[in-house]
Amino acid sequence: MLATMDIATTLVERSKLQDLNFQDIPFGKYFSDHMLEADYENGEWKSVEIKPYQPLLLSPSIAALHYGQAIFEGVKAYRDVNGEAFIFRPQDNFRRFNVSADRMQMPHVPEEIFMEGMKQLVALDHKWIPEKADHSLYIRPFMFSSDELIGVRPSEKYKFLILLSPTGPYYNAPMRIYVEEQYVRAVPGGIGYAKAAGNYGSSMYATALAKKKGYDQVLWTDAFEHKYVQEIGTMNVFFIIGDKAVTPGLELGTILDGVTRNSALTILADMGYKVEERRVHIDELMEAYKNGELKEVFGTGTAATISYIKELRYKDFTMNFDCDSWKAAPNVKKTLNGIREGRIPDKYGWMVKVH
Ligand code: COI
Repeated sequence: MLATMDIATTLVERSKLQDLNFQDIPFGKYFSDHMLEADYENGEWKSVEIKPYQPLLLSPSIAALHYGQAIFEGVKAYRDVNGEAFIFRPQDNFRRFNVSADRMQMPHVPEEIFMEGMKQLVALDHKWIPEKADHSLYIRPFMFSSDELIGVRPSEKYKFLILLSPTGPYYNAPMRIYVEEQYVRAVPGGIGYAKAAGNYGSSMYATALAKKKGYDQVLWTDAFEHKYVQEIGTMNVFFIIGDKAVTPGLELGTILDGVTRNSALTILADMGYKVEERRVHIDELMEAYKNGELKEVFGTGTAATISYIKELRYKDFTMNFDCDSWKAAPNVKKTLNGIREGRIPDKYGWMVKVH
């Protein structure tokens, strides 16, 4: 256990809480009263503080704006049936954050700032955790380089912040997905496994083209053959093939090591599925679909939770799925929700209580 860190805290004069309509909250649009801000300079983190949510005063020359040394995480806090606040697997996000930091040549954020800071911030703004089903308090830790210098080199100064955003579902309905064969998200040796801001910026072009064709998101494929599937939009992807739950493996460093991905793998294994993390060829999926073996396709992510795919389009071939008849994805979703709401015992130790 970490010792409780003393974080200087300045409170808002007036809470904005009563201005928010909790019945209608889109993803990522509203922010709670407070935020955490910390600065890194001369090789150390200093001035960690919690203060009212407010704009930052930054020079237009800061390095992050020019070269994209910027990483983030997505974490969620929930309220259980007894009204107590919990954060879902924050330690896993903390670990991944510093993996991303390494890849982007940025300093590690120490555990006491990331974890204690997050817990103290959520405790302070716990009233912002929505109670409605499929809603939560989205936690957005992020870091960017803040040297005022437009030379290309790792910055010497960084800012780390945590924001809280009460939120509803990211994707509202089963999705139509286009298998992307021209543009790529990640290559071995690249930054696909890092939660780097640029991965999301660079995904928008192909996604916009797919949207023009009537699809919601793309399923990325490998850069060399455009045959091995990687991720969908902001999610990892799962395929239920017969009695197997199959998802692309992490070994090439081209996909994100998703916390919800890992939770789904654990729950699916417990449900009796043979879970396989490995390369998944699009031809294998087409064959399985034609044989009636490909039963379910779904995405997993912190923001997306468990999102059903009702259509997968590859070249001229369309695979349609009847999500209402599914078993695996709804069960994973139900189990995750049950654990988060405290209706199912947290036997995996995923929920971290906020005091
Ligand atoms: C998350 O699932 O937390 C994500 O990072 C998706 C986000 C880009 C909306």
